[in-house]
Amino acid sequence: MNSNISNPHTVYENAENYWSRCSQDVDGMLGGFAKLHQPDILLSKTFLNNLKKKGIAENFDYALDCGAGIGRVTKHLLMPFFKTVDMVDVIEELIVRSSEYIGTDDGIGEKFVEGLQTFEPPLGKYDMIWIQWVSGHLTDDDLKEFFQRCIKGIKPQGTICLKDNVVNTANPLFDSEDNSWTRPEDLVLEIADAAGLRLVAKNLQTGFPKEMYPVKMFAFKPKNPVTEDD
Ligand SMILES: C[S@@+](CC[C@H](N)C(=O)[O-])C[C@H]1O[C@@H](n2cnc3c(N)ncnc32)[C@H](O)[C@@H]1O
Repeated sequence: MNSNISNPHTVYENAENYWSRCSQDVDGMLGGFAKLHQPDILLSKTFLNNLKKKGIAENFDYALDCGAGIGRVTKHLLMPFFKTVDMVDVIEELIVRSSEYIGTDDGIGEKFVEGLQTFEPPLGKYDMIWIQWVSGHLTDDDLKEFFQRCIKGIKPQGTICLKDNVVNTANPLFDSEDNSWTRPEDLVLEIADAAGLRLVAKNLQTGFPKEMYPVKMFAFKPKNPVTEDD
């Protein structure tokens, strides 16, 4: 199925059904591949440390974890870097479960229950918006528009990071189990560009099984940072 369909209602509904039935643990968040957790977090930490070293990410007050689920990325990646982390996910039960999984509310800000296809991050709030293993749930148009709302949600020096599987095929591949698309890297970058983002860093995840799709981390900044008059 093409990733720029104009009426994705059924796809979104099927995805919600899938995620509302997944196990509410790391294995469930990683589609049965809990062994990916450690190398994933390790390489994401290295990526963030490099953004810090290069001065690409300067402030670490507020982050937003998109498609946060039970808060695996919030707990192990974002909380060690940021004073406060907000979370958003379309499945309420996963967000509710996150309190127990994370084990503390210190450092957790707001928890939003909404699909990213409609979610509007609060204006100018975040130093970083992290979008991991969820962008494939949005159509091309909805991803572009979500990126545009993220641009308004970050502070002037803020950064938007995307971590996701990519394919080496010419077209996106649709997974009819969880109802998501895996896009070629070029398409991801094209959508980000169309949304008004420029790529400032990228890296390839290593340490994953060979048979998996490659996983890439991208950091973006707005081409035109939002000013107070916008
Ligand atoms: C593969 S899991 C990844 C969870 C988390 N990012 C991680 O890496 O541990 C996908 C998550 O995206 C959420 N999700 C799926 N479709 C979504 C949508 N349209 N808007 C927001 N969240 C969505 C699911 O509920 C699930 O928590």
